[in-house]
Amino acid sequence: FNTVMYAQRAADVSTISEKTLNSILEKNRTYYTQGKVADYIPELGKMDAGAIAFSVVGKSGKIFNAGDVHKKFTMQSISKIIALMIAVNEKGEADVFNKMGYFGTDRPFNHFSNLETTGKPLNPMMNAGAILTTSLISGEGEKPFLKILDLVRYITKNNTIDYNTSVYESEKSTGHRNRGMFYLMKNNGLISGNEDQLDNYFKQCSIELTAEDLAKIGYFFANQCVRFDGDSAYKNEDLARLIQSQMLIAGMYEFSGEYARTVGLPSKSGVGGGITVSVPGKMGIGVFSPALDRHGNSSAGYHMILDLVKQYDLSLF
Ligand code: DON
Repeated sequence: FNTVMYAQRAADVSTISEKTLNSILEKNRTYYTQGKVADYIPELGKMDAGAIAFSVVGKSGKIFNAGDVHKKFTMQSISKIIALMIAVNEKGEADVFNKMGYFGTDRPFNHFSNLETTGKPLNPMMNAGAILTTSLISGEGEKPFLKILDLVRYITKNNTIDYNTSVYESEKSTGHRNRGMFYLMKNNGLISGNEDQLDNYFKQCSIELTAEDLAKIGYFFANQCVRFDGDSAYKNEDLARLIQSQMLIAGMYEFSGEYARTVGLPSKSGVGGGITVSVPGKMGIGVFSPALDRHGNSSAGYHMILDLVKQYDLSLF
């Protein structure tokens, strides 16, 4: 049980600098030794456990970076919020959430949960709901994945972003549990397509980006889907509220409740070691450190976020 001590007087967010980020990063660098790099997907096990990066995109879209900010890693489950945005934009919220719940969870990300009882995934953040969400995006074959990739490129304004084919192959050849969920949902009448749809999920998980890209994604949802440079082509207050609420209740899986008490911000983690955080109306935070805690969340990443939140009183609560 962690007690969080908040600073007596929070610093003003306008004083955040690269120096701030560097000192928080150095303070938390060794937390990676308490975690473990995901190796259930063999290709992920090859990551450098000591790599660490911390990035913030502030109010005016100004970017602050510390650590290995050019180091790429796969976004994994963070891609689920991008897929959700596309599915809801195409189908409408009612249609998507008629097939799955808005529920939180006490189960790990790859749990079947109530696929065997109500027949529907708990939420779009756990694997089952995310696989279903991606299957709801229109288009044949690889098209839905390409929409996800394009939206990630748009939000980050980084057209060099692509997916890592070896991670994808590794996910596809070992993802039997995900395949099981896919077919159970097909059996339940929720999924109508073929395994191309599951491949799109594996591909979206394999998209490679940096901590700075994650901070830009956090910023986007924190600011009504307006990009860090002010581009408002996707501006949508309701959608940003929906996605941030799902991040808050299930973005850190079964740790989400305790995370809400300690950090108190919509966040989404991935087993690649990234976490993207939205500070509503204010900023986006991106962290990367591949060693994960027992819930599958970046260990050093969590502690860097927690320190920034305490120092600047960023919690919603
Ligand atoms: O479905 C999987 O196993 C992964 N490719 C993605 C899961 C993930 O990132 C869960 N996160 N913490």
